[in-house]
Amino acid sequence: MAWARTVSVGLFLQLATAITPAREPRQPLGGGDRLLTYNETTPTALNRATTLAVDWISGDQDGQYVTTSDDGALILESIVTGENTTFIPADSVPADYHEYWISPDQDRVLWAVNYTKQYRYSYFADYLIQDVESGETTPLVPDQVGDIQYAEFAPSGGAIAFVRGNNLYIHNNSEVTQITSDGGPDLFHAVPDWVYEEEIFGTRSTFWFSPDSQYIAFLTFNETGVGTYRIPYYMDNQEVAPPYPRELELRYPKVGTTNPTVAFNILDLATNDVRNVPITAFEPNDTIVGEVAWVTDEHSGVVYRAFNRVQDLDKHVLVDPVSGSSSVVRERDGTDGWLDNGLAIQYIGQVNTTGYGLNSTWYVDITDADGWNHLYLYPVQGGEPIQLTSGEWEVATILKVDTARSLIYYTSTEHHSTERHVYSINYATKKKSALVDDTVAAYWTASFSSKGTYYILSYQGPDVPYQEVYSLNSSTTPLSTLTSNAGLIANLSALALPNITYFELAHPEGFTLNVMQRLPPFFDPSKKYPVLFTPYGGPGAQEVSKTFKSLNWNAYISSDPDLAYITYTIDNRGTGWKGRAFRSTITEHLGSLEPADQIWAAQYLLEQNAWLDAEHVGMWGWSFGGYLTAKVLETQVNTTTPPFTFGLITAPVTDWRFYDSMYTERYMKTPLTNAAGYNSTAVRSAAGFDAVPGGFAIMHGTGDDNVHYQHTAALVDLLVNEGVSPERWEVVPFTDSDHNIRYGGASAWLYRFLTGRLWEERERVGGEGEGHQWGRREVLV
Ligand SMILES: *[C@@H]1O[C@H](CO)[C@@H](O)[C@H](O)[C@H]1NC(C)=O
Ligand SMILES: *[C@@H]1O[C@H](CO)[C@@H](O)[C@H](O)[C@H]1NC(C)=O
Ligand SMILES: *[C@@H]1O[C@H](CO)[C@@H](O)[C@H](O)[C@H]1NC(C)=O
Ligand SMILES: *[C@@H]1O[C@H](CO)[C@@H](O)[C@H](O)[C@H]1NC(C)=O
Ligand SMILES: *[C@@H]1O[C@H](CO)[C@@H](O)[C@H](O)[C@H]1NC(C)=O
Ligand SMILES: *[C@@H]1O[C@H](CO)[C@@H](O)[C@H](O)[C@H]1NC(C)=O
Ligand SMILES: *[C@@H]1O[C@H](CO)[C@@H](O)[C@H](O)[C@H]1NC(C)=O
Ligand SMILES: *[C@@H]1O[C@H](CO)[C@@H](O)[C@H](O)[C@H]1NC(C)=O
Ligand SMILES: *[C@@H]1O[C@H](CO)[C@@H](O)[C@H](O)[C@H]1NC(C)=O
Ligand SMILES: *[C@@H]1O[C@H](CO)[C@@H](O)[C@H](O)[C@H]1NC(C)=O
Ligand SMILES: *[C@@H]1O[C@H](CO)[C@@H](O)[C@H](O)[C@H]1NC(C)=O
Ligand SMILES: *[C@@H]1O[C@H](CO)[C@@H](O)[C@H](O)[C@H]1NC(C)=O
Repeated sequence: MAWARTVSVGLFLQLATAITPAREPRQPLGGGDRLLTYNETTPTALNRATTLAVDWISGDQDGQYVTTSDDGALILESIVTGENTTFIPADSVPADYHEYWISPDQDRVLWAVNYTKQYRYSYFADYLIQDVESGETTPLVPDQVGDIQYAEFAPSGGAIAFVRGNNLYIHNNSEVTQITSDGGPDLFHAVPDWVYEEEIFGTRSTFWFSPDSQYIAFLTFNETGVGTYRIPYYMDNQEVAPPYPRELELRYPKVGTTNPTVAFNILDLATNDVRNVPITAFEPNDTIVGEVAWVTDEHSGVVYRAFNRVQDLDKHVLVDPVSGSSSVVRERDGTDGWLDNGLAIQYIGQVNTTGYGLNSTWYVDITDADGWNHLYLYPVQGGEPIQLTSGEWEVATILKVDTARSLIYYTSTEHHSTERHVYSINYATKKKSALVDDTVAAYWTASFSSKGTYYILSYQGPDVPYQEVYSLNSSTTPLSTLTSNAGLIANLSALALPNITYFELAHPEGFTLNVMQRLPPFFDPSKKYPVLFTPYGGPGAQEVSKTFKSLNWNAYISSDPDLAYITYTIDNRGTGWKGRAFRSTITEHLGSLEPADQIWAAQYLLEQNAWLDAEHVGMWGWSFGGYLTAKVLETQVNTTTPPFTFGLITAPVTDWRFYDSMYTERYMKTPLTNAAGYNSTAVRSAAGFDAVPGGFAIMHGTGDDNVHYQHTAALVDLLVNEGVSPERWEVVPFTDSDHNIRYGGASAWLYRFLTGRLWEERERVGGEGEGHQWGRREVLV
């Protein structure tokens, strides 16, 4: 994060003009003649856009936020006065902090230091409480040894709730009260286990303060009976490997096995009593809790969303924390596919308009009940919802609820599924307004001040990103420019960049696929270029979007004349933001329509474009993309003209029975009800691998806690036993790397390896390339 404010005094007097240079509705082309080099793209893009994230402060005066300055100080900015004052001077900022939070009264800062990564979101740390006025810091608990899992300020009143050793604690006026005591490897209080963290909440805590800080709702996960997956760490961050690897014993429910059970608890902070509210929506072994949200301004009600195990039925349950009573207020049957856990609920309160019932309170949520994700207001006590938006497009994110003005700000795909524009809708009048020109292709988001009087509008592409500060009074003239990325634009002007364009392919079966095409600089249609497909393709995901594309390895392999790959990224059926029907068509048979769409698209593009070298067409994918690549190689042999000549398979799923229950069963249901589906979704046939002329490579981190090395081990077993020619393929295990493949020098090595494979494929005529920087001998010393 860099300090990028250009205007610092008299902001509201000095009205800035529109951003310069004006952004074009396309990816930048550079306009110069220098080509991107390997080192400035890989493994990290050096030419990249800066985006400032700010922490808006609530207080009497709206429009204040805290951000960091170049020297590391925390700076308090006021949009109204134009002043920026030092909040925490650089010399009082703890060394090597990982994250910070400011107390609601702005009198304290909570710092996470001594960080140790755990899974995708979770980490262990020490926490320091700093008094803003004196600058003094005190440890959250005196005997912490980098072992605190999470800590959070109460929304009011000064307490901090934290989790250590899977137990919940309250810190208040320097006193620590332990709330639960039976937490441990089999019982997770107020923090998620592995599968809830990765697949359900996407966070590292599962407790929620009531708005008035008098109660905490928290979930407890009981791992009894959940299978353990053991991950060996061969090096374990040592210079010389220990004789016995360290083994992580990870509670990880695989498909069809025992899931953790979940309990819903309410802590009364006045008495520190914990009340369990029994979950009866589904059988205990058939329950996943997916969202918890307070639907009140104080503490009168909290709602949780229970799913059945395979996540195609749900019930929203309203809990009264005082009496402990609960009732189902909303339910849905999604057995035509699955129900996504949108985590979008926000409390609104009363709506003073006829039709809303004068005594009802409401919350907003996003659902695809009519086939497209849209905004609805739901009565807290249950009853008919009111649909606010509709149409064949989807609401992506709720950015802000402004109850003073009856406005909900959101982004949507109304202009195109690959774009996002910012809108507001007045929930009393249903009047919708665009905050940006929604007729111009772009990808926008926004961040609103606490009381909604100001906002930062962030342009994220397709041209070079920038951010501007606006007052609600004028959506046409910005108050200031927060980031312009002028330096990046200057750097790009010397470069000849690949030419990225977007289009759609109309499939004969009546749907369209979004495509992103990257042509090498100085593209000459009379020549022939090798091709690399770079899909992800997983359910609900999106790769083809009009965000500014990082000038990374993908840009390099297109730019280097010795490689000059054309790349295609195509979102197949099952991917997101094109409606429920497009998504849910893959239900119960992952790995069938996705590769079929990629194969069809490749065949179609090869037929249409003589400048594509049909002899050299590859696919590279990671995770679901690795699975998709493997399925493409496996199944294309049964098509009349298999288009792909080589495959690069990174950290793939190869058999969904090895993946976790909560992600997989949402789409595939269980092996009990869908045995044949699981059978055909696995990679089980080697013939296609043996037939791919340019061969393939498989890469996987041995410390992958997410997609276990087991997937690659099983695929290798198949390919070896089926006698797939050793010349065809190679396997690279990355010692101790997780799903990101970054342990030690792994990332740099991986990209050198991939680049070598691309160069060899381009040179392949039957013989092998010699003496080039990307030749096999050079790369594999
Ligand atoms: C790229 O980086 C490598 C490793 O740091 C270095 O050896 C090489 O000289 C660099 N190449 C260029 C063209 O800068
Ligand atoms: C605002 O902050 C910037 C960056 O830290 C600093 O250069 C500038 O002097 C500050 N301006 C005021 C008015 O304090
Ligand atoms: C930092 O964390 C490590 C564990 O990751 C722990 O061993 C060490 O004691 C911690 N240091 C401090 C000062 O808490
Ligand atoms: C913290 O302590 C104060 C008085 O010492 C009390 O009024 C308040 O309710 C406590 N807060 C919590 C969350 O326990
Ligand atoms: C966890 O689940 C097991 C098996 O159902 C049960 O015996 C045990 O009492 C549970 N533990 C808690 C704390 O609820
Ligand atoms: C839950 O347990 C019951 C009784 O053991 C069993 O009949 C049922 O199939 C289980 N349901 C699930 C979803 O595993
Ligand atoms: C509701 O709207 C009516 C008519 O506009 C107004 O008279 C009344 O004060 C409003 N009540 C509240 C609580 O805003
Ligand atoms: C309206 O709300 C008040 C306060 O919550 C309650 O006492 C009253 O019974 C409600 N009236 C109706 C008609 O629901
Ligand atoms: C917005 O307009 C209102 C009414 O004209 C005015 O009172 C208010 O000060 C303006 N706010 C800002 C931030 O300019
Ligand atoms: C970029 O590619 C598109 C689509 O092929 C083409 O229409 C356009 O002219 C190209 N632009 C440049 C600068 O080459
Ligand atoms: C290809 O077709 C043959 C003959 O129908 C079938 O046996 C084989 O399983 C198919 N292979 C794949 C990967 O679908
Ligand atoms: C799974 O597939 C194999 C062949 O690939 C077949 O022999 C077996 O019957 C299938 N099992 C089910 C349950 O479909």
